[in-house]
Amino acid sequence: MNAPLIAIYGATGHTGRLVAKELLARDHPVILAGRNGAKLQELAVELNAPDGRIRTHVATLDDEAALRELAERSAVIVHCAGPYAETALPLAQAAVDGGSHYIDHAVEPHPVKLLFDTMQARAQSAGIVMIPQLSFYGGIADLLAAAVTEGMGDVDRVTVGYSVTGWRMTPAAVKTAELLIGEIDRVTFADGVQRVEPVEIRNTVFPFPPPVGPRTMIAPFPSGEVVTIPRHVPARRVESQLTASTFEEEQTFTSQDATAEERARTDFMIAVQATSVGGGGRNGHVRGSDIWWVGALASVEAATRLASGQTPPKAGVLSTAEAFPAAPFLRHLATLNAFTLAL
Ligand SMILES: NC(=O)c1ccc[n+]([C@@H]2O[C@H](COP(=O)([O-])OP(=O)(O)OC[C@H]3O[C@@H](n4cnc5c(N)ncnc54)[C@H](OP(=O)(O)O)[C@@H]3O)[C@@H](O)[C@H]2O)c1
Repeated sequence: MNAPLIAIYGATGHTGRLVAKELLARDHPVILAGRNGAKLQELAVELNAPDGRIRTHVATLDDEAALRELAERSAVIVHCAGPYAETALPLAQAAVDGGSHYIDHAVEPHPVKLLFDTMQARAQSAGIVMIPQLSFYGGIADLLAAAVTEGMGDVDRVTVGYSVTGWRMTPAAVKTAELLIGEIDRVTFADGVQRVEPVEIRNTVFPFPPPVGPRTMIAPFPSGEVVTIPRHVPARRVESQLTASTFEEEQTFTSQDATAEERARTDFMIAVQATSVGGGGRNGHVRGSDIWWVGALASVEAATRLASGQTPPKAGVLSTAEAFPAAPFLRHLATLNAFTLAL
């Protein structure tokens, strides 16, 4: 039992549990962390792992010392408690102060931008790797964009299309979605420039490959790729879009008490379309079910690599594709049955 500890902050939530279960299935020792000690103890009993494989750690977001102590005990913190607009900074600061790597599951562009804008120098001088949005929304599209545009010199646009059906949101996901829907100032990337500004929300059509086919989309969909993709793809414009039907399905916002099995019954495709300045372009996509599982698995893959010393050449705040070789990482997730991959 010598593997370095991986902490899961927000371990009692749906994503945190999936991350904990997957790490324990790989015999990796974990620290279940969060604000509620009784719930953490209950979870530790429920997970029923051999002796010494599970520790717990209680730390509220305003307890700087307890968060720092968590980071000092851990090689990596996988931050699974959202909305990240409220939770990202305290954990990121603790990771820097306590010297642990950091991964989170944010959807929202603002906290992703905040970590790149405010934590870069501190993460570099602490020698830690900080990867925001390494999850279903965000990290997978970031990897797809890198893989699709590899060697493509004159990228005009990168468009990320999410097709999601059967999404059963958790309490934190509903809260996150409500905050995003009500947001006035959006992060955009157009004409090669990142801006924060009000935008017109429009409907457009995204040409998903079969069997999904062309679908009406909400555009832009506020997800952090607008921050991460321009860091490594020299595109003039980056935008994410989501199938309009996703939010028309009744259960999306009314299924907070769904079981883990019901939550697993989503269907998704993430497609990335990159167009060249001179016309033409390239596409890639992944397709599967259980968006929650994909996000948890991606973060576990990254966390175990960081914990075992397979770190990127450079420390600092990095996008998923800056931290790991894109196509091999995606192919590896495909071999674990996260999705089918077309590149
Ligand atoms: N990017 C993606 O694709 C992706 C994928 C999965 C999840 N997410 C995001 O990840 C977050 C968690 O999702 P989930 O499905 O696991 O939600 P969930 O099942 O509702 O669980 C939320 C977890 O966060 C903890 N938490 C909430 N507010 C907290 C606070 N102020 N201080 C400390 N802990 C707090 C909860 O602790 P208690 O048990 O003590 O209440 C619980 O452990 C959401 O923001 C969601 O949007 C994103």
